[in-house]
Amino acid sequence: MGKMERFSFVALVAGILFFLFADFISWALPMFVLKDIPKKSVEDLVAEAMAKNTTAWSDFKKLARYYPDSLKALCAYEDAFTGVTKISDNECKPNEKTFAKALKVGHRWYVAEGCWNCHSQMVRPVSNETLRFGIPGVSNSVSYPSEYNNDLQAPVLWGTKRVGPDLIREAAVHDVGWQVAHLYNPLYTSPGSNMPGYPWYYTKDKNGNIVPNERGLSLIAYVMWLGSWEVKPPKEFRIEAKAVETATPGATEAETAKEEKAPAKTEKVAAATKEEKAAAGKPNGQQIFQSKGCAACHQAAVDTVGPSLKKIAAAYSGKKDELIAFLKGEHDAIVDPAKFAVMQPQLATTKALSDEEREALAEFILSHK
Ligand code: HEC
Ligand code: HEC
Repeated sequence: MGKMERFSFVALVAGILFFLFADFISWALPMFVLKDIPKKSVEDLVAEAMAKNTTAWSDFKKLARYYPDSLKALCAYEDAFTGVTKISDNECKPNEKTFAKALKVGHRWYVAEGCWNCHSQMVRPVSNETLRFGIPGVSNSVSYPSEYNNDLQAPVLWGTKRVGPDLIREAAVHDVGWQVAHLYNPLYTSPGSNMPGYPWYYTKDKNGNIVPNERGLSLIAYVMWLGSWEVKPPKEFRIEAKAVETATPGATEAETAKEEKAPAKTEKVAAATKEEKAAAGKPNGQQIFQSKGCAACHQAAVDTVGPSLKKIAAAYSGKKDELIAFLKGEHDAIVDPAKFAVMQPQLATTKALSDEEREALAEFILSHK
């Protein structure tokens, strides 16, 4: 027997032993780690989210409110793969049934669409990952076993590639409006992104607006659920925080930092607005614009996610009533209708304003000539 032959025999035996050892570890280790942690069904997860009133639950309710027709379509949706069945009309509202269905359908399409090719779902205890994924101070723990012992992680979606950011703390990062715009075309929110757009999760509603369809609504509900168990109220830390940083011209660094750290900022500014209103007798349009997060997408003179205020003011010049009607949701978009899907969720905010406030907001926008 030659020397090389003996060597390859040893290597073969060693290889087989390593293989058996790895095989043993990969089923034995999880068994020991997870043996005292009960495995949760999707229904358990939903009951927990609703009992604790997590952001996942409030975000799902928001989606249902913004896109009632897509919720109806979700109730009618059937899928042999996940085993979801129809939900009757009188039960078709945000409740434990529809929420569980959305998570199942969303998870199914996340897997089928291969989102895990680019996104991991595990914050590891290395390389400051707690700072990179999630928001420090809001969600700052590394991943732990009980997060994964449920039906939405069977098989686990840890992933191996990170072309995009880790998503297991996504609930702490962006709000519903951002997700709706991003999934349709990531370039709307993330200049230079190489994530593909997923327009087949969208449809046109009866007014011709592009809205998430039943699968899109579910996929977004699922993404917003990720990490929601880690996120504790107050909940005003998401997109607005970043927006203030990039979009408030003239804000000093100290002010920006203060805004970012103050989660209850919207309430505070709202209170301030009230005080000022009492003082001046008139609501302040600029303050409403900033406190409602409009600055996230609208700059004074340059187009960013949304058109610049200057462009909007030009399109609505001499048409204040029409602008107010748009903010009430009673007028079609005229500035950039193709991107209306991005703006649409914001109308929930402007519709909730008082007539006086809306008028002040319109005047502020029109002052950008
Ligand atoms: C080709 C790789 C790729 C695929 C496939 C992909 N993404 Fe992404 N994704 C990225 C990149 C890169 C970013 C970061 C830039 C951006 O925000 O678009 C990102 C960002 C995101 C974000 C925001 C993360 C954050 O915290 O900033 C979410 C949410 C997201 N993707 C969801 C999805 C979903 C859902 C799918 C499947 C339908 C998907 N992605 C498929 C590459 C990908
Ligand atoms: C997530 C990004 C985003 C946020 C936040 C946002 N907008 Fe927009 N907005 C857009 C986009 C994109 C358009 C272009 C589509 C369109 O013209 O409707 C737009 C368009 C508009 C228009 C022009 C409407 C027209 O006739 O086309 C007005 C007015 C407007 N936004 C006001 C606001 C106000 C007020 C707020 C704050 C309550 C706000 N936006 C928040 C993205 C956003």
